[in-house]
Amino acid sequence: MLKIEGLSKARGLLRRTTLLVASLLVLVSCSRDSDTTVLKMAHALPTDHPVHEAIVFLGKRVAELSDGKMQVDIYPGGQLGSERELMELLQIGSLAMTKVSSSPMESFVPEMKVFSMPYVFRDNDHYWAVLNSDIGRDLLEAGESVRLRGLGYYDAGARSFYTVDKPIHKPADLKGLKIRVQKSQTSIKMVNALGGAGTPVSFGELYTALDQGVVDGAENNPPSFESSRHYEVAKYYTLNEHTYVPDIVLISSYVWNNLTEQEQIWLQQAMDESVVFQRDLWAQATEDALDVVRNAGVEVIYPDKTPFAEKVKAMHDSIKGQPAYDLIQTIRTMEAE
Ligand code: GCU
Repeated sequence: MLKIEGLSKARGLLRRTTLLVASLLVLVSCSRDSDTTVLKMAHALPTDHPVHEAIVFLGKRVAELSDGKMQVDIYPGGQLGSERELMELLQIGSLAMTKVSSSPMESFVPEMKVFSMPYVFRDNDHYWAVLNSDIGRDLLEAGESVRLRGLGYYDAGARSFYTVDKPIHKPADLKGLKIRVQKSQTSIKMVNALGGAGTPVSFGELYTALDQGVVDGAENNPPSFESSRHYEVAKYYTLNEHTYVPDIVLISSYVWNNLTEQEQIWLQQAMDESVVFQRDLWAQATEDALDVVRNAGVEVIYPDKTPFAEKVKAMHDSIKGQPAYDLIQTIRTMEAE
């Protein structure tokens, strides 16, 4: 009995200490002098990526809407850590905001794996219909339970394979190849199901990993393949479009709860406007990126997607009984926008 009381006292103390540390850290991630609330936002993408442009737009709109009372300071290019690390910083309140891919988010919110499951979405319009539906909204809110509040989605198009030495025309071509994936179990399983070896590496380390032969290839959307300059090393790009994995802007729940109601309204409005802005940029950025890589000598391959989809069919049955399985069944019945 005594032991249990001691344990619950210790737990109580730990909880209070954690809360105290978190509130102190909130002061660091979100400083508020008498006139301005400054939110620190970090992400992993380069500054010429359309998602970074959207985040700059978001910051500009926040400043405009709040008449300078609120400001977003942006730290791009992974300088504050990998996406997983950035989410952990948000959880303890030592960073206010981040933009991550929904793939690594599945370790925090299991339902997010719907986005890393291959061949769920028929095309970009179907994917946006889902993001804008109750399912999309519920998934954004699901992060609240782990102190990661979703503010909105950015388009990240479809992801496809790129390889250094060997062109991929069909799944059998992936056999024995080490393919870099994000830190997501579902992505690892997908590559393995296709015959390759899914290998998680952080985005910031991938150029070197490709260059030094640590991995034989990777997979991403055209703007990311181009702006990361991975195409300088990987000369084959196979548009098999296995997944549509949206980007997500997150704010630490600690920080969100410390904002005034008015600040929350400004931030959410700026976010919603930046989603529209970014979606407009995306299609053009995808075309431009394909032009750049082609001009740099990359062979862009348009394979038959059916054998890829066939190979990963069993993955869908393997998650029967999990909430993501039921979500996918509903998603499949949904109309495009
Ligand atoms: C996309 C996504 C990034 C992510 C990257 C990756 O570019 O927008 O958020 O870091 O993929 O593969 O790691």
